[in-house]
This record gives sequence, C-alpha cells and structure tokens, in this order.
Amino acid sequence: MITVTGTVFQLDTAHTSYLFEARGGLLQQLYYGPRIKTHDAEPLREKTAAGYGSEVVYKAAEKPLSLDSRPLEFSPKNKGDYRLPAFSARTGQGFTADLVYEGFRVEEALPAPEGLPAPHGGDGCLIVTLKTADGLEVELLYGVFEQADVIARSLRVVNRTKAPLELLRAMSFQLDLPGCGYTLATLDGAWARERHVTEHRLAPGAVVFGSRTGASSNRTNPFFMVYEDGAGEFAGRVYGCNLVYSGSFEGAAEVSPLGSTRIMEGVQSDGFCWPLAPGERFEAPWAVLTCSDAGKNGMSQNMHRFVKEHILPPAFAHKLRPVLLNNWEATYFDFNERRLLRLAREAAALGVELFVLDDGWFGARDSDSAGLGDYEVNRKKLPSGLDGLGDKVRALGLGFGLWMEPEMVNEDSGLYRAHPDWAVKAPGVEPGRGRNQLVLDLCRREVRDYIVENVVRTVKTAGAAYVKWDMNRHVSDNYSPALDEQGRFAHRFVQGLYEIFRRVTEACPDVLFEGCASGGDRFDLGVLCYMPQIWTSDDTDAYERQLIQTGTSYGYPPCVMAAHVSASPNHQASRPSPLEARFDVAAFGLLGYELDLTVASAAEKKAMKEQIAWYKAHRQVLQQGDFYRLKSLFGPDDTRGLTARETQWITVAPDKSEAVAGEFMGLLVPSSAKPPMRLYGLHPDRLYEISVRREVINIKTFGSLINQILPFRVNADGLLMHTASGVYMLPCEEEHYTAWGDLLMRAGLRFKQSFTGTGYNDDVRLMPDFSGRLYALKAGAGALRAEKESKNEQSTN
Ligand code: DGJ
Repeated sequence: MITVTGTVFQLDTAHTSYLFEARGGLLQQLYYGPRIKTHDAEPLREKTAAGYGSEVVYKAAEKPLSLDSRPLEFSPKNKGDYRLPAFSARTGQGFTADLVYEGFRVEEALPAPEGLPAPHGGDGCLIVTLKTADGLEVELLYGVFEQADVIARSLRVVNRTKAPLELLRAMSFQLDLPGCGYTLATLDGAWARERHVTEHRLAPGAVVFGSRTGASSNRTNPFFMVYEDGAGEFAGRVYGCNLVYSGSFEGAAEVSPLGSTRIMEGVQSDGFCWPLAPGERFEAPWAVLTCSDAGKNGMSQNMHRFVKEHILPPAFAHKLRPVLLNNWEATYFDFNERRLLRLAREAAALGVELFVLDDGWFGARDSDSAGLGDYEVNRKKLPSGLDGLGDKVRALGLGFGLWMEPEMVNEDSGLYRAHPDWAVKAPGVEPGRGRNQLVLDLCRREVRDYIVENVVRTVKTAGAAYVKWDMNRHVSDNYSPALDEQGRFAHRFVQGLYEIFRRVTEACPDVLFEGCASGGDRFDLGVLCYMPQIWTSDDTDAYERQLIQTGTSYGYPPCVMAAHVSASPNHQASRPSPLEARFDVAAFGLLGYELDLTVASAAEKKAMKEQIAWYKAHRQVLQQGDFYRLKSLFGPDDTRGLTARETQWITVAPDKSEAVAGEFMGLLVPSSAKPPMRLYGLHPDRLYEISVRREVINIKTFGSLINQILPFRVNADGLLMHTASGVYMLPCEEEHYTAWGDLLMRAGLRFKQSFTGTGYNDDVRLMPDFSGRLYALKAGAGALRAEKESKNEQSTN
C-alpha cells in the first residue's frame, strides 16, 4: 500500500514498511524494516542541531544540514555527501547536480525500463521526481509487492536541460541504513564453484562488488544480503537485494566515518558513459529489496515468493518440470543417432520424461573450436535430422529438447566466414577468444534478427519441448559499430539480449527454456523473466552442490535450479560420491540425469529407476514447496569439530501437509554423537509420519571390511566384487517415526546410530563422506486419525 501524508511516503507490504520524506528539498530515509504503524514521522527523523566539525552545510537557509550525516534516499552530487554516490553526470555545471524534490505521482503498474524486463503484478508504483535548477530530472521509482514483502526500486534520468549531458553512474537504488553493525554477504565464486557465501563484516570504508564480464557472472551474483549483528538463519533482521538484470553490474556497502551504512546496486559504472541529448532519458534496471526479522530464511522466503509470483513467466511458474536426461557428460561431442537413441531408450526405461540433445549437433561441431553460429544439422551424426531424431525420441514416450549457444560464433563457421564483422571486436585490435569463440554483436539489429530467425526455425523443426540456452565465455573487446558512444556498449548489449529472449520466447510460448552460461555464469532475475529455470552449475559433484545450491537458495527458490545426477568420480571435481547422494542433492532442484546410462550396472539402473519414481511421487513439494536451510557448511564450525559438518534442508508444502527433509554429509567425524535434526516450517499441531527413503549402499563402500561380513574372502578391488556390486546393493537402514510438528521442530529427530567401524546391521546408519538421506513427511491418513484422537483426548481431559 502506498500512503502519502504531506511529504511523507509510506510503502507498506504485508510485513514490512518503507518510509521516507521530502524535506529541505532532500529525500530523507526514515525507516525500512518490519511493518510499523506511524502516528507521525517525528520519532523516525534524524535530529541534527549543529553540523559535525568539518562538514559542509548543504543550504545556508536551512538548519545546519549536512548531507554527509543524513540518511538519504538519493544524494545530490558534489554537495557535501562524500559517501559513494548513486548518481553521477557531466553537465554544463561539471559534476555538480543539486537535485531537489519536485513532486510525485502514483501509477498502477510498474513500467518496464527501456529494453529491460520488469517484475509483473504488484500493488502500485510511486514515482518521485527530483530536478536541478536547469532541468536535469531524476525520477525514483518504487514498486510495491505486498504479499511478497518486496519493494522494487528503479531510477530514470531525463535530460530536460537545453544542452547534452553524459550520464556516468546511475545506480538503481541507494539505501541508507541506521548504524553500522552489519554484515554484508555476497554470493561469489568461479566456474564450477558458483555462489558460495562470503561474509564481509562491515567496517569504515566500502566493499564494492559486481561483474565486468558482460554477464551477471559466476564471480559475484547480483543477489546480496545485509544483516544485523547476531542475525542467523531463523532470527534477526536481514535485508535481501537483487537486480533484475543479466549484464555487468555493481553493488556496494559502505560504512561512513559517522557510522551509518549505505548500500546500493545498479549497472556497472566502469566503462559506462551514456550521453543524453535534450529530451532523452536513461532507465535503470529494477532492483528488488526485501527485509525480514525472521533471519536469512525469512528473507529467502520473501525472495522465493517474489521470484515465483512476479518474475517467472506465469505460464511456467507453477508448472511441474520434467525429469530429463542430458547427453553432454555421457557423450560430449562424440555421438551419432544410434548412440543417442540407445541412451534415450535406457532413459525411457528408467522413467525419464525428456531427452536433451546437448552441444555438437550442428555444423562442423566436433569440438569446441568450430560450428557456433551455424544451425544446419550435422547429417553425418544425425542422418535423419533434428526432426527425424526428435520423432524417434518422442516415439519412446520422451519429450525432445535441444541445446543452443546463439550469442556466439566460432571463426571456423559458415556464419563467421560470411559476416566476420558481426563478432565483437574493437577496430584494429586482435579480439580475445574464450573457449575458441567470439561474441556476436547483439547491439546490431541484423545480428539479433539472424539469431531469432534461426533459433525459432530450429526449435520448430525439431519440435523441441525444451531449449537449453548456453553462453560460454565472458564478453571482452567491447565495441560495436552500431553505437555512437562505446560507453553504451555493455548496457545496449544486454538490451539486445533481452530483445532476443523476448522475441524467441514469444514465438515459442510452450517451450520450456533453461538459461545456462558455462553452468551458472548468468544466474539472475533478468534471465528468469524469460526462462523459468537455469543450469545451476556445471559442477554436479554431490558435495560441491551442497555449497552451490545452499548459496543459490539465499536469493532463488529450488524451482529455478536445474540439478543433475552425473558420473562418479565427478567430471569437474574428480571427487567420488555415492549415486544415491548425487540424487539426494539433485532432488532439491529440477532433477535430471547426465551420465552414460548404457554403461550403468543393473544395480545402478534399478537404483535410478527408484529415485525417479520417488522424485515423481514427491515432485510437487520438492519443486514448489517452501524451502528452508536447516544447516549449512558456510559460517563458523559450531560443532567444535566433534560432529560432522553437514547440510540440512527441508521443503514444506504450503498447506504443511507434507515435506521432504534432506541431510547431506560433509566429512564424517568418527565416534561422534549426532545431535537431533531439528526441522522447520511444519505445522506444530499436526502429526507427521516420517520415513527415510530406502536408499541402497554400494557394497564397495565397505572396502575389504566386507570380508568381516561374508562367509568367504573376496578381493575388495577384484572382479568378483565388481560384478557383485553391479547386481546387488545393500538397503540402507529403515527408519519410521510418527511425531507432532512441534516435536520435530523443537526437539528434533534422533536417527539410528552412525556407523563407526564397529559393526554393521539394520540399526546402523551408514553415512560416509559426501553421502545423504532424504526423509518424507506426511500428515497422512494415520497421522490425521491420531490428530483427531489427540484432540478428543484433550477435550475430554
Ligand atoms: C557449458 C554447459 O554448462 C554444459 O552443460 C554444456 O552444455 C556445455 N557448455 C556444452 O558445450
């Protein structure tokens, strides 16, 4: 709800309030946090009677008002606020821009910034205008999303002066928080190690983060959080911020010398220069803010709701996603139709629903050094074409999906030979190559048209139900002959990308698109506005995925994270992990398989078939439930080294009738007492039946210890053991409990004793390094009966 009282602006969502006021020409921040009732704004106002020492007084006529110590929504430039600015422009007055409050208006819908996506839905948009005396205008936009507890912010700069100007910095928002007892947490990493949580305890000075790679990047994600000292997963005040943008961006958190904290985020200003002729405007991407006093999980819940309800394409937001098999790590470039169909047949027999043909199906694409840019199917590999292969796959009862990398070109390709000038390169400079490829210049209309026409035609020819849209290098050598000013390149490039996304997805409305960029190099809200899911990381190692999926979950719900079961040892981390653990972690995302099923043993296939059946039975809650982190590997070791560090997650149906909890081992600690697993998000007064998913354990796990169980001796590395493990696996322990939600959340579940080398039987829980377990919870028929009985008992007592 947007309420304007005089010049006090109050934006209320279901559980938060955001207040600021126009005073002395300035927009002064009053409060952002859990919802409050306001009688008047006075208690919220920063009181100043005298300036601090060397401060600069903003306006002599006003009270001694120094900008440097004010909590501001937006700061005039070069007027005595020495903190990081959200805005900078070069005008006839140099870098000085005395932007003062002019007025406001309220609009119903959030406008989409030029060439960029906008969140959909929402409960109104407040637009506040600031102006300089000579007509430079800045509009601050505030979108309200009541049920998601989100305030979206954006900024527009309009040149209403008579002279041209250059915009040099235009953050989507600036927010001044009171005090300085905060920690900033960013999601950082690299290829195959995306979105690990980094905590920066804020101190005087600025922490500046972001990307210059042309994409939102695997280095630092646009999502970040800031929390008060003492905040944890379940309690404490936490602010979450994100940007609806897929290009180079910048974020910062600064503690001022006077001990207040400023945060901001927007397009990357390094290399940014946006000339505005009189009458022209620049529109910054939408930023997204939320706040919760229920800790990081509370904040994540808001972000997850917001992504599902206001970012994802509505047609897919609540649609269950198919279990897929992707051929990439099974074959890489080395396949033909016969090999693919063998894989597809195996997949269909296991219950897989979609077969995805990855890289290598077109042009001379037998390695990563040729073919990108071309769309002609490689008839040597696929003699019956994409349509022929698609039909054969569909005849097996599977959907057919296709990989593409439309933004790129190899120099060894028909496209490059025809249009060498379509690749991004600066005149007279040898361009940098990444994965042997160049980037297509998306600032050029003819390039965008070529991509759209070819992608749409190919998708239709193949009858593809799914497309994996890849992008495998950073952008460099930023230059486009289509631009009057190269300082526009990074932003125009992203606008070009969104135009392509929009045209392609509009032309193929029923196709499920999955964003991808060398795994998770472009995992952001901008992509999610068009593509309802993203390949989370190329790294599918069960242990590394605990970290990656935990980190990602701070800002994004499981229903956007594609997660595959791949081979062991893992191709990226070279780490071995149990097949069942690889499934357990992947089950908390959008499940797929990416390994050579034709060489899987009978026991492995049986296990995978059971995994898929189990996933389908719990798919609704796994993909659409409310997700909470119970324990994570990030942060200090609170076990004193005495018990294993683990990851624990739970996802709960919105009506709390069912849930799935997962536990994932880091490194095992021998002879350690395991604390109970405390759950979260359940209904305290409902009775749940809990059962462990009956996993199987590869008998090779025991090594030569197996000789203590068997009546005869075997060589642990020998052929007999290998053959036996291929046909037989041991069932894991059986555990089944019935318990009230309050018990599960307050006391927690104690599991069977962990195996520590002193005997193995049905009462022992064998969880070696990197292993996992899943528990299904159901407030089912038996549980409901018990609930009624307990209620009757209580009423007769
Ligand atoms: C990078 C992706 O992340 C992989 O999954 C795979 O599609 C390769 N590209 C193919 O080149």
